[in-house]
Amino acid sequence: MDNEKKDILQKLEYSPYSKEEDIRGIMKLMEKALSEPYSIFSHRYFFTENKDLSLTVKYNGQLIAACENRLKIRGQKISGNIGMVAVLDEFRGLGIGKELVSRSIELMRGKGASEIFLETEVKNESALSLYESLGFVRHKFLYKYYSTGEDAFRLKLFLS
Ligand SMILES: CC(C)(COP(=O)(O)OP(=O)(O)OC[C@H]1O[C@@H](n2cnc3c(N)ncnc32)[C@H](O)[C@@H]1OP(=O)(O)O)[C@@H](O)C(=O)NCCC(=O)NCCS
Repeated sequence: MDNEKKDILQKLEYSPYSKEEDIRGIMKLMEKALSEPYSIFSHRYFFTENKDLSLTVKYNGQLIAACENRLKIRGQKISGNIGMVAVLDEFRGLGIGKELVSRSIELMRGKGASEIFLETEVKNESALSLYESLGFVRHKFLYKYYSTGEDAFRLKLFLS
């Protein structure tokens, strides 16, 4: 890895999504990165209802990546859900996405989740490759799942 990349990685700050002012920045980041539009209410939901479960990454104070997570509780069963994850274009390929998802898994495992699930577009090869490298498996095919008409896979990671 070259020195510029090492320097970037050393300066990254991973922290829980805990400031109201992060909401707009996260919304902008997700709008740019994801084809499915999400309203500010969705982002606020991750912030208010699932406090400290979502993560932001900052570089020199600038928001460059985020992962929004929540817990779904049904009876005794606690599932973790990765709602949205994105890394700013110019910071991709440095391992930041994988680190964010790994930290998110551990956060939700710590809250009692026995599995983690998420949906991603069938054509999103980089995301599928990232998740499968962490042990997620393709659980369900979701025909035209997104409002854009794109199909999705639901992926699951079973935690022991
Ligand atoms: C998907 C995304 C979050 C990956 O973030 P990233 O920081 O670039 O990913 P990492 O550098 O941590 O890479 C981790 C793994 O992902 C896979 N990956 C990442 N970019 C890839 C690419 N362009 N092509 C194929 N695989 C890729 C690889 O398996 C990689 O592991 P490796 O480096 O050991 O080969 C990023 O591309 C992104 O923000 N995309 C747009 C938003 C999005 O699609 N989010 C996911 C929706 S659920």
